[in-house]
Amino acid sequence: MLEIKNLHVDLEEEEKTILKGVNLTVEAGKVHAIMGPNGSGKSTLSYVLSGRDGYRVTEGSATLEGVDILAMEPEERASAGLFLAFQYPVEIPGVGNMTFLRTAMNAQRKARGEDEISAADFLKLVRAKAKTLKIDAEMLKRPVNVGFSGGEKKRNEILQMAMLEPKMCILDETDSGLDVDAMKLVSEGVNALRDAGRGFLVITHYQRLLDHIKPDVVHIMSDGRIIKTGGPELALEVEKNGYADILSEVA
Ligand SMILES: Nc1ncnc2c1ncn2[C@@H]1O[C@H](COP(=O)(O)OP(=O)(O)OP(=O)(O)O)[C@@H](O)[C@H]1O
Ligand SMILES: [Mg+2]
Repeated sequence: MLEIKNLHVDLEEEEKTILKGVNLTVEAGKVHAIMGPNGSGKSTLSYVLSGRDGYRVTEGSATLEGVDILAMEPEERASAGLFLAFQYPVEIPGVGNMTFLRTAMNAQRKARGEDEISAADFLKLVRAKAKTLKIDAEMLKRPVNVGFSGGEKKRNEILQMAMLEPKMCILDETDSGLDVDAMKLVSEGVNALRDAGRGFLVITHYQRLLDHIKPDVVHIMSDGRIIKTGGPELALEVEKNGYADILSEVA
């Protein structure tokens, strides 16, 4: 599904290398988690994959179902089935949440040569999905994320994901700032989307999230590289002992 090979990334503005050869393959139907110390490059990886400005790929490749995504515009990547839930979701003043969702859905459908979703079908769908995430009608009408609490923004990201049904979902610290109940809701939202044809990359600092969203594979990132890969037990080890042992192991 998602194949990242020897990815090196510099900042555009200054001479600084952030990613120093990331290798990672997420198979369809699998959930991969990335953990790692602050500043190790986890968000940078997700930004580069989504096509955000400000980064320069100097070496390596990233493909989605065999297609080079690094050459695509951000919206083309989205139409190709890539979705990123941001660590810091952006506010879009003046654009209603529902309008945003419907526009995004239809833009993607159009790019795939599909018909637009009808207003009635859209309304039915968004109401049903919002309900399971406990997002009320009022929040659907408000401008995207404007004035939403931290946890509301994160739930709204999962609503976007549930509506767009991407092939490859990247979640960057979707658990941060969530209360215990919201964490469960968000995890259920993610689990409901788990499917043989869909891959997930879940970036998190906490094993707690991985209790709900059970990962198949756990990677540890440090200083711009994946330094260790294992099963769910790796997350437990981090929770218990921190990163010191793993870092010294590979040093
Ligand atoms: N625009 C920028 N200017 C300067 N440094 C940057 C910029 N963007 C990223 N960096 C640096 O790149 C490194 C990786 O940042 P990144 O946000 O990817 O880390 P992270 O692993 O997501 O950390 P966290 O766990 O805290 O979210 C950090 O040292 C950060 O300061
Ligand atoms: Mg980050």
